[in-house]
Amino acid sequence: MEWTRESRYRPYAQWDAKTLLELQAKAAKSPYQLKYHIRPSSGLLNDPNGFSYFNGKWHVFYQSFPFGAAHGLKSWMHLISEDLVHWQELGLALTPDTPLDSHGAYSGSALPIGDKLFLMYTGNVRDKDWIRHPYQLGAWMDKNDQIEKLPEPLITQPEHTTDHFRDPQVFQHNDHYYVILGAQDKATKTGKISLFRSKDLKEFTDLGYLDFTQAEMGYMIECPNLIFVDEKPVLIFCPQGLAKETVAYDNIYPNMYLVGSDVVLDEARFVAGENTIQNLDDGFDVYATQAFNAPDGKAYAISWVGLPDISYPTDQEEWANCLSQVKELSLKDGKLIQRPVKAMADLREAGQLISPDPKNNLAKQQLVAESGEQYELKLTLDPDQKGTLHLAGNADLSQSLDLEFSTGADAHLTVSRANAGAQFATEFKTTRTLELLADQKLELDIFVDHSLCEIFVNGGEHVMTLRFFADVGPKQIALTAAQAKLNYRGTFWKLKNI
Ligand code: FRU
Repeated sequence: MEWTRESRYRPYAQWDAKTLLELQAKAAKSPYQLKYHIRPSSGLLNDPNGFSYFNGKWHVFYQSFPFGAAHGLKSWMHLISEDLVHWQELGLALTPDTPLDSHGAYSGSALPIGDKLFLMYTGNVRDKDWIRHPYQLGAWMDKNDQIEKLPEPLITQPEHTTDHFRDPQVFQHNDHYYVILGAQDKATKTGKISLFRSKDLKEFTDLGYLDFTQAEMGYMIECPNLIFVDEKPVLIFCPQGLAKETVAYDNIYPNMYLVGSDVVLDEARFVAGENTIQNLDDGFDVYATQAFNAPDGKAYAISWVGLPDISYPTDQEEWANCLSQVKELSLKDGKLIQRPVKAMADLREAGQLISPDPKNNLAKQQLVAESGEQYELKLTLDPDQKGTLHLAGNADLSQSLDLEFSTGADAHLTVSRANAGAQFATEFKTTRTLELLADQKLELDIFVDHSLCEIFVNGGEHVMTLRFFADVGPKQIALTAAQAKLNYRGTFWKLKNI
């Protein structure tokens, strides 16, 4: 389908139910469809929104365009969970149905206040000359999941930004509410994080831009989040057009984080100390990660697995993208650690132990003959090993998702999707490499869900997340090595649907 401005922004009421049902059926029967991650029931999914704990349940919303694989008129789709793993879709929650959000209920966040959940989001409006007017809007959701939008904007575009001013994250700190937003400075056309303060969520004071770096942050920052991890402030954000000399990255747009030693919000100061800006994920496809501080004392994050301005093979099937699994955050030596949540283990079927076959000294070892397409593999490789782990391998391993590793002097992990089926986004390279500490063991916890792979490296010191679209057919997991023998051990579990 050829997407025009007219079809992208066509009011939902003008799409018929039959089209939607056909799109849902198409997405459901795709061989690439995910089975234990949040994925769109039809059309396109992007940013996670409103990730929160309210009324005894976890809530997450996502940006949805239900009518195809296009960035069209966006709504918030609502899901709830009891354990951060099993999610139930409740349907569209915030839809673009007022003059203040006529061209999209864009990204935002949620904060429980009293017996309601306060939602804050960007109303995207285009006038007849297609000029954008962003409004920062509020809505209250009650315990029956009923949402009432506030009639007036809470924050309008300040003089000092362009119309790129969106994605409010609202949070409470000391005795105030604060909101941070992604912004583009009008004078310099550079990416900024705008900060506002409010006593009552009615009047908001502009505190200017958050001072967190001397470096220029590209031309726009999207989806900023400020959370506290092990008592330290952590900023998570997406700087578009960031110079690669500032922080190296390969994706079209990066998702970065910065750990602070202190934050003084009333002075708009985020003190980074010795810490530097880092990639949040070392894979190919993570963007717009949203994190929050939960009442259980932990900080959780969930990411869009997909990137703006990139086409994916499922676009042909008229659906696109998914969310990552939820990641629990902690800090170690000034670096963010991301781990699967405990309930992920509830998805496991019986485990199968993996170890070298003493009778097989060949340079190829098959670990799992028929892995299927939805599993977890934990594998520890001893120091001083060199080889390649093949996931989703066909019979002769001419096709596979390759994890080439060395745990010796030149320790690294390189993920290549060059031989893993349908190719896409190849102008942004087909490999991602992580440098590792020399002569250490390498611990991998790998989750595969059909067309998604999440690799947790060394207890979550790094995560490499990626989509891949392997050919249909039986899949094996194997290790190949230059020298004959590899030392490794691990466990393989098939995982259940959610
Ligand atoms: C990021 C983003 C946000 C915006 C939303 C619209 O992916 O562009 O800045 O609010 O997506 O869907």
